[in-house]
Amino acid sequence: MSCVVADVVSLRVSRKITTARAHFIQISVAATTICSLAPGYSVFIGLLTIHILTRSLANPEPKRMPSRPSGSERYNGAAIALHWLIAVLIICGFYLGWIMTDIPGFTPTKLKYFSWHKWIGVTVFALAALRMLWRATHRAPPLDDATPAWQKAAAHLVHGVLYLLMLAIPLSGYFYSSAAGIQVVYLGVVPLPTFIGPDPALKATLRTLHVLLDYTLLALVVMHVLAALKHQFVDRDGLLARMIPFLK
Ligand code: HEM
Repeated sequence: MSCVVADVVSLRVSRKITTARAHFIQISVAATTICSLAPGYSVFIGLLTIHILTRSLANPEPKRMPSRPSGSERYNGAAIALHWLIAVLIICGFYLGWIMTDIPGFTPTKLKYFSWHKWIGVTVFALAALRMLWRATHRAPPLDDATPAWQKAAAHLVHGVLYLLMLAIPLSGYFYSSAAGIQVVYLGVVPLPTFIGPDPALKATLRTLHVLLDYTLLALVVMHVLAALKHQFVDRDGLLARMIPFLK
């Protein structure tokens, strides 16, 4: 009997792993496609943004599920879509920023990567602003009552600083580009305004600021992910399922 139960449990676990792997592969393929087809991703982002906005307007409050404990209430579709879209874009932007600066000289590839990096930054800024608007008009699902107060405070602090960095990093990069005398042309089509003229001293300061903020974000994202994984695999309290709908 115990063998049968163990078989059923292991079959369910392996099904879940297969589903999770399939979703991971889908997300990876989507991320790679976004990076390699940078001009075409505007259509994808545009459609997704319209979808998110219409869903958000149609469903302004996160769904309440009274039968489940408060700590397992989920974010709604708009919050989840924005969270993962921004996360994928940040990873792509960070990766491009990392490799593009190591390319020697001014090659067409280097210039292309710089453009993609800037377009991703502008998109992250716009989506982060949208996400903050969502957040200002919706409450986040409450954390489990059993969560210690310091963990709740730490989570709020990290989330708050992540929001600030999602705006501050694109802004510092944007002004850095202006101070270097290079106008940002979004997706190679829409010239964006330059608020400051070429300024070598300011350019150096903004570059340092941009890099400092990048590494601060990296450190916070690592902490954030480790906390999410601890909840999933050590505490086993289902917190990750608040942001990943296919996890139960
Ligand atoms: C660049 C990457 C990421 C950024 C900038 C980011 C940012 C954020 C922010 C700001 C929130 C708070 C949402 C709110 O209540 O307003 C949040 C929530 C959350 N994130 Fe991320 N995130 C990133 C990647 C990830 C990854 C990779 C995971 C999982 C491994 C993850 C798991 C979660 C979970 C589970 C929550 C909900 C926490 C809760 O319910 O209190 N995030 N994220």
